[in-house]
Amino acid sequence: METIFSGIQPSGTPTIGNYIGAIKQFINLQNDYKCYFCVVDEHAITVPQAPLELRQQTLSLAALYLAVGLNPKKATIFIQSEVSAHAEAAWIIQCNTTIGELERMTQFKDKSQKNGRTGVSAGLLTYPPLMVGDIVLYNANLVPVGDDQKQHLELTRDFVERFNKRYSQPNQEILTMPEVKIAEHGSRVMSLQEPTKKMSKSDPNKKAFISMLDEPDIIRKKIKSAVTDSTGIIEYDPENKPGISNLLSIFSAVTDFTIDDLVLKYNGQGYGVFKADLAEAIVDLLLPIQTRYNELLHSDELDVILDEGAQVARLVANKTLQRMKNGIGLGRKP
Ligand code: TYM
Repeated sequence: METIFSGIQPSGTPTIGNYIGAIKQFINLQNDYKCYFCVVDEHAITVPQAPLELRQQTLSLAALYLAVGLNPKKATIFIQSEVSAHAEAAWIIQCNTTIGELERMTQFKDKSQKNGRTGVSAGLLTYPPLMVGDIVLYNANLVPVGDDQKQHLELTRDFVERFNKRYSQPNQEILTMPEVKIAEHGSRVMSLQEPTKKMSKSDPNKKAFISMLDEPDIIRKKIKSAVTDSTGIIEYDPENKPGISNLLSIFSAVTDFTIDDLVLKYNGQGYGVFKADLAEAIVDLLLPIQTRYNELLHSDELDVILDEGAQVARLVANKTLQRMKNGIGLGRKP
């Protein structure tokens, strides 16, 4: 059976973008693959986080994983910092990655441009090797992510090729080569306020995203105020009509309608009716998830699941880490 790894940062509550681009894929994949779904809290600290909030968001994300339907009997669900192999592997990977490769990462360029290179943590630069470690430690063949993670996956593949070439014995590759798995639709959900920019859970403008824990009335308000255009014509044309095209993609991803179905259904009806129905579709999707989330959040069940998840993850991750150390020649004994 092939193996899947994916992770989400607890740097805020996941948005409908995270749901459509990543989480929705996880739910189907758990039936056919050996799956590891991780709350990557060590990634979140590349930018400053308030300690209590970080802890709360970490638990909250784990509860959301379960609330959307991830089944701990099928998938291993765990917190990254509870498996120390991640930080150890990241060091080895950093030492086999050039600064040039890391400086080319667009996410680093964007974030460091905003704050100046001297104003960001070194972790922001070395974050992709931590992500490479997440993936290789579990021997993942497939990594379901949104479009924005493609470049990190390319770096992962380059690293695996280089590491295996340098350190593996013939016919005994140390690391598994992963493939990226991008959702066919909705791999890049855009901001509701600036539809040419990606929707992000850390956007300071809360109207720009729908969080998976937003209350129904907030969802209705945010969709109502989503930026469109003045034509009132519902058609899918991301280049010229990014706002309404984004809403069409979201609508299609949260229901069984295709974009073509929706264009036909709302032909001539104007944006008001379309937006009201879209808001209800999102509410219908999220309400049952939120109910289950609230039951789970402070339950003993959640703690037990995360303890067991970390145990399983440690066993697999430590084995790979040991293979990496052996290959390199770290320590006294293989
Ligand atoms: P993060 O936490 O930013 O996002 C989690 C997942 O959601 C996807 N995503 C989106 N998809 C569609 N539209 C959007 N607007 C949108 N915003 C985010 C992301 O592509 C991602 O799949 N570095 C990763 C976390 C990570 C990881 C890993 C992922 C750490 N280690 C190993 C896979 C494998 C990140 O920051 O995702």
